[in-house]
Amino acid sequence: MSKVTVIGAGNVGATVANVLAHKDIVKEVVLVDIVGDLAKGKSLDTWQQAPIDYYSTSITGTSDYKETANSDIVVITAGIPRKPGMSRDDLISTNANIVTSVVKSILEYSKDPIIIVVSNPLDVMTYAALKASGLNKNKVFGMAGILDTARYRAFLATELNVSPKDIQALLMGGHGDTMVPLPRYTTVAGIPVTEMISEEKLNAIVERTKVGGGELVKLMGTSAWYAPGAAAAQMVESIVKDENRVFPVCAKLEGEYGLNDVFVGVPVKLGKNGIESIIEVKLNKEEMALLNESASAVKSVMDVFDNM
Ligand code: APR
Repeated sequence: MSKVTVIGAGNVGATVANVLAHKDIVKEVVLVDIVGDLAKGKSLDTWQQAPIDYYSTSITGTSDYKETANSDIVVITAGIPRKPGMSRDDLISTNANIVTSVVKSILEYSKDPIIIVVSNPLDVMTYAALKASGLNKNKVFGMAGILDTARYRAFLATELNVSPKDIQALLMGGHGDTMVPLPRYTTVAGIPVTEMISEEKLNAIVERTKVGGGELVKLMGTSAWYAPGAAAAQMVESIVKDENRVFPVCAKLEGEYGLNDVFVGVPVKLGKNGIESIIEVKLNKEEMALLNESASAVKSVMDVFDNM
């Protein structure tokens, strides 16, 4: 019987709301945008899809935060997307102001929601949201790992000519070029992927995954939305159903992996309380070095935010 608010009715936010409605697992979705009619229009369109695709989740659009009152989960996608030639970090000042003001408006009407951040640069926007909210760290986290892992799994499925359903993988680190793919923890229906693909091809896929978002920006002139939207909706589902699914999620680390006060992607259990626990996977020296490098890259952007 949950209520979910999605902030930002652009490409990603509207997709989150639409995928969520199709899952038919929450009572109500409220789509919010500063452009109120955009949110109203996209939610009316999604509601008119309900008789065709059979769901009951009600969906409304607004620019008035009063209508978000008593939300259980809030997904933040508000902000500007990347254009060709931009890195995610180029978005920092605009999106940090937007995320901070959105969090404050949300908390006026919902006391203790779970907040899932999607706006980029993801790791630092998650930091900004946690800072602005004052909520417990298990309730404010970011969506990136599911998307990065999905890109990696999709590339592998194409290369191996197998169903993407059968590829399981883990990716850690920041949402950017320093993400840490872990081929050692990648399997095809339980078979280590290294038994099915040459090292050279696997490395090429890993490299393509690292710039997977940029590939789409180049193709479309703006950043992606179908897979990002579906990934955020999958996180909502695990929380609403209290599934304890294990996903890579951008979380605040306090000692895990030997890292402190930094926001990076790590595997977690997602349930009714948000992050139920962070899973500490055994990493070898090389993998740990990559994670440290990724964490340092995130930390330097966090410093930029702190000094703004
Ligand atoms: N409150 C509510 N909505 C806002 C605000 C605000 N303060 N500021 C901007 N928006 C809305 C815009 O009006 C727009 O409709 O956020 C929406 C963003 O939509 P798009 O421009 O289509 O961007 P999108 O592709 O959805 O990406 C949004 O998600 O993946 C990330 O990098 C991406 O940071 C970007 C975010």
